[in-house]
Amino acid sequence: MIVGILKEDSPGERRVAVTPDTVTRLQKLGYAVIVESGAGAGAGFPDDRYEAAGAAIGDAQAADVVLGVAPPSPERLDALRPGATLIGMLSPRFRPDLVEDLAARPITALSLDAVPRISRAQSFDVLSSMANIAGYRAVIEAAHEFGRFFTGQVTAAGKVPPAKVLVAGAGVAGLAAIGAAGSLGAIVRATDPRPEVADQVRSLGGDYLAVAEAEPDDAPGTGYAKEMSDDYNVRAAALYAEQCRDVDIVVTTALIPGKPAPKLITAEMVATMRPGSVIVDMAAANGGNVEGTVPGERVVTANGVIILGYTDLAGRLPAQASQMYGTNLVNLIQLMTPQRDGQLVLDFDDVVQRSMTVVREGELTWPPPPVAVSAAPAAVRPARQEAEADGPAHPAGKANPVLRRLGTAIAAAGVFGLIAFSPAALQVHLTVFALAIVIGYYVIGNVHHALHTPLMSVTNAISGIIVVGALVQIGTGSAAITVLSLAAILLASINVFGGFAVTRRMLAMFIRS
Ligand code: NAI
Repeated sequence: MIVGILKEDSPGERRVAVTPDTVTRLQKLGYAVIVESGAGAGAGFPDDRYEAAGAAIGDAQAADVVLGVAPPSPERLDALRPGATLIGMLSPRFRPDLVEDLAARPITALSLDAVPRISRAQSFDVLSSMANIAGYRAVIEAAHEFGRFFTGQVTAAGKVPPAKVLVAGAGVAGLAAIGAAGSLGAIVRATDPRPEVADQVRSLGGDYLAVAEAEPDDAPGTGYAKEMSDDYNVRAAALYAEQCRDVDIVVTTALIPGKPAPKLITAEMVATMRPGSVIVDMAAANGGNVEGTVPGERVVTANGVIILGYTDLAGRLPAQASQMYGTNLVNLIQLMTPQRDGQLVLDFDDVVQRSMTVVREGELTWPPPPVAVSAAPAAVRPARQEAEADGPAHPAGKANPVLRRLGTAIAAAGVFGLIAFSPAALQVHLTVFALAIVIGYYVIGNVHHALHTPLMSVTNAISGIIVVGALVQIGTGSAAITVLSLAAILLASINVFGGFAVTRRMLAMFIRS
């Protein structure tokens, strides 16, 4: 089959569905690739780079599989050949007119922004990729507008305090914004109704601000936020009012799937912010989290606060966005090409493919049946219960310390009992084991969350003991033992050196220079 890459025709759209790198992957799957002239120009990929990657420059609309980013115009849809498959971000939830138009055509249309957020679909999840880029870009836009450093400095010319940033909503975009603002040196705080994100916020260097909830919620979690109670909103409003008086930058990302964006920041709160403060309302396209946001616009309030309602934040990093979008798209095409033979096969038994199909060979299949998502941990204590039981010093998301200590004491008593009543030979081993647990707990507990993976990969070196054992055994004279010892040395060495290689790579990510 031939895959065609469209040149985007929406005003201001600089992304392209496939980059030269992803062209190569499509070819490995057995497809021939045609790219429209100038398709990658906005993202910094000229035609000759596509040609060098093996693509032809020509009419992509006549291809069997047509790839784009934004929904194509009706004129472009007219040019698709019967039986073609169109894949792009078609926004079927918000564009009933487009869904109706697509259903009237003898084509198949798949919407990448309808991929369900389940673990198996992560590699095709363009919404997460774009939200990640947009969260980062929101902070860059804020830094561009803000008249001061983000990081604090003490210089001969005076002392500069660090900027304070509040991020409302710690989903994909929010976490990216926390990471970006923190790495610029700002003091970052974040709030979200889902207490399970507290650890993620802290692992990125932010402070998690919990809003105590009045009504405990016993409904099973889905990992997605739901509409909050009035009581919660009143408490949250008090938190936002207090924070707006204190912070310099606010980035709002609050979203409840399928609902208009919740209003978090009122005009009165904005009026209490210092002149020169910046708000980036990432939810502008869904109605906005901030009173006074104008979608797509930069607004300056009477007290000098800048409100950015840009709705194209991911597209403002077109090369990065195209690269991630293209990778997600090709991952999907790989799933749909099971034989690697350049033939696209739509599998309706696969929940991911079913969820994103808007039209199948001219038959309307939208909306898809709901998908059970379970991104949340099994049980999360309501924030208010925690706050009331443990007082203000006890952060949300942690177990009750009294119960924890009691549990630890019972476990310790059990271990001592076991050691005391064990045979003498076993007592030494059990004592070493118990001490190892205690030391391990404190060592790992005091390592920053972000460093847990390097720490684990370095602990692979423990399997070096296998190398020692194998070296002792290798000279025993038996051929079988020698072969097994050599295999053990090889596998354990891969584990040890592989662990160090992974650690080195991960630690390199933390080195600022
Ligand atoms: P997400 O679903 O991963 O995160 C949304 C977060 O908001 C969740 O953690 C949720 O718990 C939280 N939330 C829900 N109700 C809240 C409330 N009342 N107060 C505080 N937090 C609340 O969504 P994602 O992917 O991070 O996207 C966030 C927003 O950014 C969306 O509105 C999305 O449309 C927008 N977006 C904007 C772009 C732009 O160019 N402006 C580009 C990409 C995404």
